[in-house]
Amino acid sequence: MDNKYITAFAPASIGNLAVGFDMLGLAIEGAGDRVSVRKVSEKGVSIKEIYDLNGNPHAGLSKNSNENTASIAAQALWQAENGQDGIEMLIYKGIPLQSGMGSSAASAVAGAVAVNALLDSPLPIAELMPYVLEGEKFASGGIHADNVAPSLIGGMVFCPPSYLPKITSIDVPKNISSVLVHPDLIVNTEESRNGLTNNYSMSQWLEQQSYLAGFLLGLQHNDLALIKNNMHDVIIEPQRVGSVVCFDDIKTSAMEMGALGCSLSGSGPSIFALCENDIAPDVKAKMMDIFNSNNINSQGWVSPLNSSGAYVES
Ligand code: HSE
Repeated sequence: MDNKYITAFAPASIGNLAVGFDMLGLAIEGAGDRVSVRKVSEKGVSIKEIYDLNGNPHAGLSKNSNENTASIAAQALWQAENGQDGIEMLIYKGIPLQSGMGSSAASAVAGAVAVNALLDSPLPIAELMPYVLEGEKFASGGIHADNVAPSLIGGMVFCPPSYLPKITSIDVPKNISSVLVHPDLIVNTEESRNGLTNNYSMSQWLEQQSYLAGFLLGLQHNDLALIKNNMHDVIIEPQRVGSVVCFDDIKTSAMEMGALGCSLSGSGPSIFALCENDIAPDVKAKMMDIFNSNNINSQGWVSPLNSSGAYVES
């Protein structure tokens, strides 16, 4: 049996993008999870070790393969494709947990992409969607693909729940970057989702629909004013921002500096902005400064809107 490890990388991602709750997501560059897999004679998928950002055994994640998004996605794919023997897995977490950066999604994607490479006939990458969704379902208690889809195929993705497992890449302008800042805080996505109310008005619903349409048209035509005028969330963001200290200051500052829009990344606590490329590094620095002046450490990333999705590294 060829039992060399194969390693896949899957990037972090921004869910919702302010206007598209559960249906728009964006891959980011520079942060992600890695999963290494090899075939072993013992049936099933087992997790040998999970490493944290410092390369130490991870204190916060279970090695039970029924309780980890990477192994759940891997197991679903391996079974569906009648993989012989079993899989042993190493997980390298590069994304903080409960960060709003698609941490559980990136593990699921890296797990599926690594196992796919062990198959005699690997599937085209977008066909891994049903399996990575199994992982995400375990993590957040719902079916939403706005983290797994961009982590899998890269760039910006339209992935409404009713359309899954189909997903659509969105053509994006080259002159816009994303800024993502992760404060040293945590928000549990499942709890945050459970706390959302269905109590919104027809006028709010219509307003949000018009923002989504306007945002997508703005991207299509590279019309910065149209993007900016429509990058609003009147339903979800107001319900969630209370859990992120200094969100209002950060959003106000980013917009004053010329950002096109600024909102929570997924359920937070990370905050993202879209900006023209030339101001993105300064917007990132300002967002981090505000966290810092509130005694909260943070990390930040600037990415092109077309950054790559998951891939096999070795
Ligand atoms: N769309 C999801 C939510 C993303 O907002 O709950 C979670 O990262």
